[in-house]
Amino acid sequence: MKADHPQAVNEAPIDFSAATMAEMNRVIGLFPEGKEKSAILSMLHLVQDELGWVSVGAMNRVAQILNIEAIEVYEVATFYTMFHLNPVGKNVLEVCRTGPCQLVGSDDLIAYIEEKLEIKVGQTTIDGLFTLKTVECLGACGYAPMLMCKYQFYERLTKEKVNEMLDAMREASKS
Ligand code: FES
Repeated sequence: MKADHPQAVNEAPIDFSAATMAEMNRVIGLFPEGKEKSAILSMLHLVQDELGWVSVGAMNRVAQILNIEAIEVYEVATFYTMFHLNPVGKNVLEVCRTGPCQLVGSDDLIAYIEEKLEIKVGQTTIDGLFTLKTVECLGACGYAPMLMCKYQFYERLTKEKVNEMLDAMREASKS
């Protein structure tokens, strides 16, 4: 079950790989002294690149590294939909549900994907291949309805296009 907010605030901070730590330190160094916490967003991206999601323990570690309160990291991570606060499947389908997409059928699109994958928004398929999320405007309103997966946009979606997309993702997961 998806949680929208970090639950276990006292979860122990986890360690990151040497490569991630090196990149975090590089990013932190880009900011003036006293303004290091401006690196939070970049650090959360690095966390997600390494772990696939952003756990409470990871956020607690980011707070430790930046010497700030954990709540400051939670606030950022829970504000942006691109951060996954729970483990996700190989393909995270992020369907835009904002006005322009909604006007041309994003609700139907979401319902269709739910039916096809036998999951609800926020859930992951049993085989771990797909997670379905809804997000706010991704800046491709002229190509609505649309979704993003692995930073790739799938635009002007129809049921047929969704079927093709899912088949291609299943095929790709075999290699
Ligand atoms: S409203 Fe969906 S991309 Fe802008």
